[in-house]
Amino acid sequence: MNMTSAQIRDAFLNYFESKQHQIVASSSLVPQDDPTLLFTNAGMNQFKDTFLGLEPRSYSRATSSQRCVRAGGKHNDLDNVGYTARHHTFFEMLGNFSFGDYFKQDAIDYAWDFLTRVLGLPKEKLLVTVYESDDEAFDFWVNRIGVPAERVIRIGDKSSDKPFESDNFWQMGDTGPCGPCTEIFYDHGEHIWGGPPGTPEEDGDRFIEIWNVVFMQFNRQSDGSMNPLPNPSVDTGMGLERIAAIMQGVHSNYEIDIFQHLIAGAAKLVGTEDLEQKSLRVIADHIRSCGFLIADGVMPSNEGRGYVLRRIIRRAVRHGHKLGAQDVFFYKLLGTLIEQMGEAYPELSSQRPVIEKVLRLEEEQFMKTLERGLQILDEELEGLDSKTIPGSIVFKLYDTYGFPADLTADIARERDFDIDQHGFDAAMAEQKARAKKASNFGTDYNDNLVIEGETKFLGYDSLDSSGTVAAIYVDGEPCDSIVAGNEALVVLDQSPFYAESGGQAGDSGEIEFAEGRFIVKDTTKVGKAYAHMGYVEAGAMQIGDSVKARVDSRQRWNTALNHSVTHLLHAALRETLGEHVTQKGSLVEANRLRFDFSHLEGLSFKTVHQIEHLVNQQIRRNNLIETQVMDLDSAKSAGAMALFGEKYDDDVRVVRMGDFSTELCGGTHAGRTGDIGFFKITNESGVAAGVRRIEAVTGQTAIDLIHRVGTELNDSAQLVKGDQFSLKEKLAQIIDRGRWMEKEIDRLKQELASHAGNQLLDNIQTINGVKVLIAAMDEVEVKTLRGTLDDLKVQIESGVVLLATVNGDKVNLIAGVTKDLVSKVKAGDIVNQAAPYIDGRGGGRPDMAQAGGTKPEGVVEALHAVKQWLSSQLSD
Ligand code: ALA
Repeated sequence: MNMTSAQIRDAFLNYFESKQHQIVASSSLVPQDDPTLLFTNAGMNQFKDTFLGLEPRSYSRATSSQRCVRAGGKHNDLDNVGYTARHHTFFEMLGNFSFGDYFKQDAIDYAWDFLTRVLGLPKEKLLVTVYESDDEAFDFWVNRIGVPAERVIRIGDKSSDKPFESDNFWQMGDTGPCGPCTEIFYDHGEHIWGGPPGTPEEDGDRFIEIWNVVFMQFNRQSDGSMNPLPNPSVDTGMGLERIAAIMQGVHSNYEIDIFQHLIAGAAKLVGTEDLEQKSLRVIADHIRSCGFLIADGVMPSNEGRGYVLRRIIRRAVRHGHKLGAQDVFFYKLLGTLIEQMGEAYPELSSQRPVIEKVLRLEEEQFMKTLERGLQILDEELEGLDSKTIPGSIVFKLYDTYGFPADLTADIARERDFDIDQHGFDAAMAEQKARAKKASNFGTDYNDNLVIEGETKFLGYDSLDSSGTVAAIYVDGEPCDSIVAGNEALVVLDQSPFYAESGGQAGDSGEIEFAEGRFIVKDTTKVGKAYAHMGYVEAGAMQIGDSVKARVDSRQRWNTALNHSVTHLLHAALRETLGEHVTQKGSLVEANRLRFDFSHLEGLSFKTVHQIEHLVNQQIRRNNLIETQVMDLDSAKSAGAMALFGEKYDDDVRVVRMGDFSTELCGGTHAGRTGDIGFFKITNESGVAAGVRRIEAVTGQTAIDLIHRVGTELNDSAQLVKGDQFSLKEKLAQIIDRGRWMEKEIDRLKQELASHAGNQLLDNIQTINGVKVLIAAMDEVEVKTLRGTLDDLKVQIESGVVLLATVNGDKVNLIAGVTKDLVSKVKAGDIVNQAAPYIDGRGGGRPDMAQAGGTKPEGVVEALHAVKQWLSSQLSD
């Protein structure tokens, strides 16, 4: 039975729907509220909390076709894509799920029934594996289904000291739901090399796993212990591409319908006819992951998910150009992808303009350096003695030409080289350290500093507290005491000072000791210790001193207002622009804030107002700003926004402002939203492709700004004798009048010039019967000069005219010859005769030519020379 991929997908979902399963749409590739998971990589991801009993649903059976990406992070298939028959960055996983409903018996019955009856696969081509100790599953397969016992293979743990580490014990990650599984394999036939699972030849391509049926039974804890789930459950996964290959009678996934169309589409775009080329597979694979990732809100960037996307795009682009693509091509393949998959995934079509734009921009940007980078790489390869490209070169290509390390590895592999990944990582770490150092404003004395010990932070509740000096550093060196004038870094055992983190600036203030005072200019974290940076104003301080630490409360309060409003801004952006908006960077200081976020386009003035309005509305609601410490899972259930790539402790602090914003945050905040007073955006700009930046102010700073703007408006209005509301109209009038006056002046000048021109007619002389007019005029504009020339030509009817004018140190010449005479003398030749005398150059048509020069004192001579020349020219 030959079925298309779409037909198989439908058949699967319909089959399980007929077995009372709820069809659930694929979730986003960006896992919701799970910053530990890079991309959605299995159908069960969206049901994780339901398996754990944390998130009840209205149904106990579900089925889905889940889009998955395995690139970057733990499951990274990127490097193999294109070179093997079955590796993909993107694939679809068909699955059926039971949440405490049916268990082993039904799960096995359904899988077998679907494969053998619905899809009609020959039973003798199938074999299965079970977890070594799972007698129950073994028994079902042999005695209930009737699979010969020799084709039911028990697979145990990989080694005795690693319990549950087995191909037949599936775990989502180091923690979370898991359980034994049974896998169904398809025998592609004797002509392909490979052995059944559990044999030394199992890695061959003959026996291919098509369906994994997991009996979810445990919740694995971080210490390795297994807690039973509230209810035994089922989670299955079948790769659509693999089963499609079988149904379509082909061996490689790349030969199935979807890929054949994408490969043909890619070939056309890059201008090649050989459809067997590996690079076409790479491109066909990558357009799927890139298209879907962008549809799900991931933007190319230099970190986290965005960086994985950038790497995939650049890899695709490079393979396209290797095949001969002349121009930007990759985004054009999206149309084919939509034809193939748009019906099942409508988000592809709805996000089409964004996806195409992002892909196009990224390719354009990369193309600027691609050729040069490849050239550099080739040169370097020629000079190498070994088969390994040094980390420093890989880094140079990354840093200067935007070649991600795996791209360089990909190119290297084609030329039989590999790369020194460690060397690259080291160079990368060094650069990060340098960047960190460069951004350490003022002083860099905490760079490379390691401080043991921990400062207890008291500053959520108090701004003023006692403490003991635990350590002192001067110029990065530990010392016992400091005296007036010393710049130093002081560590206390406990402190109310907030140390810079999460974008919030460190506190300033003072530390008072027995006979003196230490002025704190900034506070940073070094390890778990808080380093108070500043200088001794008076007295001597030594380790062990009891001190009184006092935060500059005004600065802290203003910083808190800006931090609280940053949360409101984040939520308002998501509400206004969409859920794809995620924080990319944040700076919170006492008198300003800056927020970077993922979004493609600049915001219109109207949108900026809308966002300001939303935030100010929340400020006026005056909601309580509640902070609560809870465990990470509860925080996520409470809907707290977590940032990808941030490491959170088991216990996290959740900051909540009404129903509008809930975020994980360790910063300090206002008491109620009303404290913020007022919010005003001062600037909106782009910082990188797909990343926008908003700068804003709050409270008194915002009000001061409004006053300043008001004063400016008022002063400007007074200048035009209006008020701020009539200013625009008055300005428009003034501008209109200015334009009218300019025109009028032009007209008058023209009139004057033609008047002068008329007078010039007196200068006409006749050379060999031809009327010749050569004259210099006073400070006439070039534009006017041309008008005068035209007038004169009309008036003399037949003749030659040369006019010159001097404006400051510039000379302009213009020559005209009436049509009847151009065969005798050309305007261009006339100006060229004159040009050398005025240090100038010129050119034009036979009937009109101009020249400009910089030597006013040469004008008289120039005109004279032309006259001489004309005499000889017109003599015959
Ligand atoms: N969650 C299982 C897998 O990914 C079905 O293989």
